[in-house]
Amino acid sequence: MVIRPLEARDVEHIHTRPGQYLGAHRSRLEVEEEVLKNVLAQYLVAEEDTHFLGYVGFWLHEENAEIVTLYVNEEKRQKGIGKALMEAAFKELKKLNIQQLTLEVSVLNTAAIALYEGCGFKVVATRKQYYKDGSDAWLMLKELQDDHTSA
Ligand SMILES: CC(C)(COP(=O)(O)OP(=O)(O)OC[C@H]1O[C@@H](n2cnc3c(N)ncnc32)[C@H](O)[C@@H]1OP(=O)(O)O)[C@@H](O)C(=O)NCCC(=O)NCCS
Repeated sequence: MVIRPLEARDVEHIHTRPGQYLGAHRSRLEVEEEVLKNVLAQYLVAEEDTHFLGYVGFWLHEENAEIVTLYVNEEKRQKGIGKALMEAAFKELKKLNIQQLTLEVSVLNTAAIALYEGCGFKVVATRKQYYKDGSDAWLMLKELQDDHTSA
């Protein structure tokens, strides 16, 4: 598996993934504008033998950053790909001297929460009824420069 910066050929994969921040509810042009042209955003893709496996995206806000999306193909989950994408993101963000990394996750998303806690994120706030279905979100934070993991 390799993890590399997103390229134009990845837009189709991202646009067709269901239920995602950048999924089919957005126009293809909107997805393209975000992943290829937003200078404050960076996206990394995991692939194996040219097969798209998943991606992670983050936005940069001065010395902080926010994970805005993380996705692994359903049939490839629980094989360490999500964690590898997050670690690749940490590596990029440390190079940019980013201090703090945040993200929002549904309190119902046990898979993502397990991954984020394992990567050192802590819950710092609850956003009540954040999602359309009325569920809450947790705001999670990780201090990057204190992080002495392999990433
Ligand atoms: C969340 C998601 C990215 C995880 O990707 P993944 O490749 O399956 O995760 P990994 O295999 O790297 O697992 C990382 C850790 O999370 C844990 N984990 C992953 N899926 C889990 C699940 N369904 N239940 C419990 N723990 C889980 C793993 O056990 C692993 O822990 P470990 O490092 O202690 O072994 C994936 O489930 C996904 O794409 N979900 C849909 C999109 C989504 O919800 N994104 C997050 C939006 S905030």
